Amino acid sequence: MRIIVLLGAPGSGKGTVAGHLAASLERFYHVSSGDMLREAVRSRNAVGLQADGYMRRGELVPDELIARMVGDLARGMPASSTLILDGFPRTLGQAELLDATVLECAARLGPVVLLSVGEELLINRISGRRLCSRCGEGYHVSFMPPQRDGVCDRCGAPLIVRRDDKIETVRRRLQVYKAQTLPLIGFYEDRGQLCRIDGEGAAAEVVERVRLALV
Ligand code: AP5
Repeated sequence: MRIIVLLGAPGSGKGTVAGHLAASLERFYHVSSGDMLREAVRSRNAVGLQADGYMRRGELVPDELIARMVGDLARGMPASSTLILDGFPRTLGQAELLDATVLECAARLGPVVLLSVGEELLINRISGRRLCSRCGEGYHVSFMPPQRDGVCDRCGAPLIVRRDDKIETVRRRLQVYKAQTLPLIGFYEDRGQLCRIDGEGAAAEVVERVRLALV
């Protein structure tokens, strides 16, 4: 098993890049910690009830909670798979818990891809994001608009704004990123695993830059 990490601020394009790679490369799987948690909140299970408040406030859920979810998923995947982790790890504690999972699964970790995007563009991207209320397909009102305003191209359901995409929550998420996730850059750089990618430009260009970094 190979584990690739996508690191980057909210709105840097982690989900977009991981989604494209998983759709186009054989045995690549997109593992989004945010999607896993949102699904838990929707189904109102014990994890979801615990995570809900943190997510509403734009703060991180406890390390052990999310590390257990990702670890359980990794342990259930075939050895031939490549997991693209989108949004995990996000703290030094989570990076250490990921190392334990890597060891347990006899996996290979790397690269850790950092998507760099300026703050003004991050806010533009998040404030224009729309999601399908039924199938979860992602759009952006200007950069990736649906064919019909407010309607999903894939399944025809209405598009919605993600609950934590309100501007005050976005600002909190950016603060949390700077305080808790930025230290991971030095951590992985020191281990020679960090690969910086310019995350600005059209999505197809960014995906191609990342794809080239993976070979
Ligand atoms: P999560 O869902 O992971 O959110 P995030 O990290 O804040 O990232 P986003 O989903 O906002 O952005 P993204 O980088 O995926 O960008 P996207 O591709 O969507 O986490 C949500 C919450 O869950 C956290 O706040 C926390 O509470 C909890 N959580 C999750 N993981 C956790 C963890 N490990 N530990 C603790 N708590 C955790 O793109 C954004 C928009 O831009 C889209 O509209 C897209 O269409 C558009 N776009 C993307 N790329 C381009 C491009 N190149 N050009 C033009 N538009 C683009």
